[in-house]
Amino acid sequence: MAESLIFNRESSRDERYRALTPQVLSLFAGETDFIANAANLSALIHEAFGFHWVGFYMVKGEELVLGPFQGPIACTRIAKGRGVCGTAWARAETVLVPNVEEFPGHIACSALSKSELVIPVKHPLHGVMAVLDIDSAQLDDFNESDVSHLSEWVRLLEEASHG
Ligand code: SME
Repeated sequence: MAESLIFNRESSRDERYRALTPQVLSLFAGETDFIANAANLSALIHEAFGFHWVGFYMVKGEELVLGPFQGPIACTRIAKGRGVCGTAWARAETVLVPNVEEFPGHIACSALSKSELVIPVKHPLHGVMAVLDIDSAQLDDFNESDVSHLSEWVRLLEEASHG
């Protein structure tokens, strides 16, 4: 595994996704532990794009519990169906929120979060096992290209971690 990420910090977001996809694959190569891979993926996304908060909440019973992340301290537990994360879990689908203040029941862990993208992580047998939560300090910071590239990275995480 390389010791540091290689990408041009001046390049567009799409170019950074393209440069980093092979590095996501090599990060996961030979490692099947979900927490280890999720921790490195959080660090990679945070370093590459500078989002305010990037991390995982893990499904435990009827709640999401804080997992590996990069950024400020965060809420530790979220009930199913609550906030953006709990909604993405309950629906088992990606939720993109351009303006968190317009999302009913949004959980404000940080007043700096303005837009949010949450992608479920699925286990082949057990359904949603975690969610990837990305919070931006910019309004309307995520587009379909972000959804598509980040979903691809989540798919690589699922594959790496479930053999
Ligand atoms: N904003 C999230 C809660 C988690 S944090 O912001 C880190 C939500 O509404 O699901």
